[in-house]
Amino acid sequence: MTDPTPTTRLAAEETVERVDRFPRDFRWGLATAAYQIEGAAFEGGRGPSIWDTFAHTTGLSKHGDTGDIACDHYHRWQSDIELLASLGVTDYRLSVSWSRLQPSGTGELNPVAVEYYRGILAGLAERGIRPLVTLYHWDLPQPLEDAGGWPVRETAHRFAEFAIRVVEALGDVANDWVTLNEPWCSSFLGYGNGAHAPGRADYRAAIHAAHHLNLAHGLAVAGIRAASPGASVGITNIVTDIVPATDSPDDAAAAERLDAASNRIFLDPVYLGEYSAAVWDTLGDRGLTDVVLDGDLVIIGAPTDFAGVNHYQRVIASHAPDQQIQVTERPAEPATTSFGWSVVPESLTAVLTRVAREFTSLPLYVTENGASYDDYVDPNGDVVDTERVAYLRGYLGAAADAIDAGVDLRGYYAWSFLDNFEWAEGYSKRFGLVWVDYGTQERIPKLSAHWYRRLITEHQEAVANTTA
Ligand code: FCB
Repeated sequence: MTDPTPTTRLAAEETVERVDRFPRDFRWGLATAAYQIEGAAFEGGRGPSIWDTFAHTTGLSKHGDTGDIACDHYHRWQSDIELLASLGVTDYRLSVSWSRLQPSGTGELNPVAVEYYRGILAGLAERGIRPLVTLYHWDLPQPLEDAGGWPVRETAHRFAEFAIRVVEALGDVANDWVTLNEPWCSSFLGYGNGAHAPGRADYRAAIHAAHHLNLAHGLAVAGIRAASPGASVGITNIVTDIVPATDSPDDAAAAERLDAASNRIFLDPVYLGEYSAAVWDTLGDRGLTDVVLDGDLVIIGAPTDFAGVNHYQRVIASHAPDQQIQVTERPAEPATTSFGWSVVPESLTAVLTRVAREFTSLPLYVTENGASYDDYVDPNGDVVDTERVAYLRGYLGAAADAIDAGVDLRGYYAWSFLDNFEWAEGYSKRFGLVWVDYGTQERIPKLSAHWYRRLITEHQEAVANTTA
């Protein structure tokens, strides 16, 4: 007699208490990004992006890992979308690689890359899965970085041109677009502390980059509307829940500065059409006044159709005079994920209710949420990631709490479909609901994938019962 399979072990796991807490047309998705899964870095006419350069620079990514092969999704996309469909999801968030589609960062799109993405999008349509396409998930073509990168205003125009060309080429097989993924990471990690590509550490350049990313979003929205009038378009921001360490005025002010430099610098201009006083006070002299030109905020504040929220962390902010913007931060609870992040489900309720209350009445989507754990294949060949099941259960309950509180939340995309190249952490961090053996490229749905499929089925059955 063999040990229980993941499915029978799953019987012991509880599902979300009440699937009827989610609206009947709630969308259930999984998310990925091009550089993290595609591989085939030198095929099909693809050019180098800043992530190729960064990962190939000694000492910058863990163990020197690169996305050269990653999950080899470029060659395996057909079986991967079959696997995705077998998990029962209604939606899939993917990104297109700028350096695959437009290697020089300007001009005609590469037809080989267009055909590749058309194949994936048509395959998703055949399986009834709605795609949400991110146009920029951090892979700036290297020639644009060589010309100055995001700290340079021209890059925003290059992105808008790229977005228009992509929507012209793929707009008949995709209708839902995310302009940028987490511009906070692109600017503050990419140019501020150098933890991400292109690895520059210059805080002023990071603030210039942040504004130009906001501008790129606004220019792209206008371009996408013109190219595809029926398209649905939004931006995905990471929204961090920031709590002051104590009730002292110093810590309260530190939390406000951190909020300005992580959340507000991106949420304010897109949803409120201005940078708030907190943003100007914190970042004005540090670079923002250098780059904001007349008319920019009107462009950036162009109406969108939905708001994407990525959420991973609640952090505690303390006044720290010797630090950048005089703040230091730490995880809210002991770090129980392998990334050093803590698990605080109610922080998702907090950020969703905050975005709805302070920033926008648009429909919201959780476009990423998830955790990395020390998963392993057991002697039965199973990956029993009970920690991830508990995580998803907790955060989906917290999402349902936000819905109960009146938030117009329309869908949830777990990060991630597959284990993948986790940026500077290389292959050391596994966020997938599906295990990837990088040596053989075998995929094994983890316990969490079985759990998620069951949740989706239960929700669909509950909807069918109320209709009957
Ligand atoms: C987010 C990124 C995503 C992934 C997760 C863990 O910040 O958007 O690509 O790396 O973190």
